[in-house]
Amino acid sequence: MAELIFNTSLNYLILALGIFMLLSESPSPANAASVQYNVVSLGAKADGKTDSSKAFLSAWVSACGSTSAATVYVPQGRFLVQSASFNGPCKNSAVTVRIDGTLVAPSNYNLNGNTGNWIILSHVTGVSVIGGTLDGQGKGLWACKLSRKSCPSGATNLEISNSQNVLVSGLSSLNSQMFHIVINACQNVKMQGVKVSASGTSPNTDGIHIGASTGVTILNSKIGTGDDCVSIGPGSNNLWIENIACGPGHGISIGSLGKDQQEDGVQNVTVKTVTFTGTQNGVRIKSWARSSNSFARNILFQHATMNNVQNPIIIDQNYCPDSGCPSQASGVRVSDVTYQDIHGTSATEVAVKFDCSSKYPCTGIRMQDVKLTYLNQVATASCAHAGGAASGTEQPASCL
Ligand SMILES: *[C@@H]1O[C@H](CO)[C@@H](O)[C@H](O)[C@H]1NC(C)=O
Repeated sequence: MAELIFNTSLNYLILALGIFMLLSESPSPANAASVQYNVVSLGAKADGKTDSSKAFLSAWVSACGSTSAATVYVPQGRFLVQSASFNGPCKNSAVTVRIDGTLVAPSNYNLNGNTGNWIILSHVTGVSVIGGTLDGQGKGLWACKLSRKSCPSGATNLEISNSQNVLVSGLSSLNSQMFHIVINACQNVKMQGVKVSASGTSPNTDGIHIGASTGVTILNSKIGTGDDCVSIGPGSNNLWIENIACGPGHGISIGSLGKDQQEDGVQNVTVKTVTFTGTQNGVRIKSWARSSNSFARNILFQHATMNNVQNPIIIDQNYCPDSGCPSQASGVRVSDVTYQDIHGTSATEVAVKFDCSSKYPCTGIRMQDVKLTYLNQVATASCAHAGGAASGTEQPASCL
């Protein structure tokens, strides 16, 4: 009996709590209160073959021009979109692009392969992109590139540029011709639950590239592609990258830096809780071997699991992806880089490689609890011009 009374009051408590939560839920820009522009009502066809670019643009222009919160809505289905530029500035700072369906790029890469970007979001403040799939149909262009014919350089699936306060949640990017997602010259961008998928042999298909941006957060995302899962270019700082599955791909890279003499550096980057599976690199910093005033500093790589990774930990200041690279001392100053709790398996004997600049040696490299094996044995570490300290478990033995 006592138990029954207890259970009943518990139920009331839960009920009351539920009602309270319902009532206190604040209206979000994505809810029904905001004006909605449905691309299908504006003429888009979910048949995968009628170009719906115009309908997407007119939905955007209306939502962006609305003086209060507004939503572009893309229902289920496949929509062929030859190109889409969602440009601001907008009249409100709560535009939501809610996508239940798939945007499909033209399969003929000659139609958009020279445009740089397929879908662009630029000069906006306060935009959320929720859900959706972007299918770049890049296979034809990859085949062209791999056959070494002269081909268009390819379009990025989604570029977000010159924008602030952008959220991308639950978006999937498939088979981009070039980079999947680029964040360029932005402040305060959050990406969560993003999925990137392309063949491990697809050329230049970086998952998420961040350049010249401040305050970018990438959470809970799964990236498998033919180039870097995440790449971080010059002028990026205050980045937080957490809970990522990477592979196939080339790992998470800072760089390439130091291509130009005058270049903004990278600082304050946290990369934590990442699993790398079968990737070319794990956590990497790379720079060209030439003169530059660039830098990479205050970097933390924490809690990484390596599964059969070729270069689990690498700083490469003689980066050379092709022939004909410069071969001077890199001018890029690499300092205060911490590796903490990095464990798993290396696919090569050298699991830790610091190949720093002879002119500007790496300083303040800290290693704490690193345990990497190669074929069930202890792997090796290789250092050139690298200074710092190691503590805790160190397998391979530190060469700092
Ligand atoms: C470093 O970046 C984080 C965001 O990732 C930010 O919260 C923090 O304030 C930044 N630290 C400094 C010193 O700028």
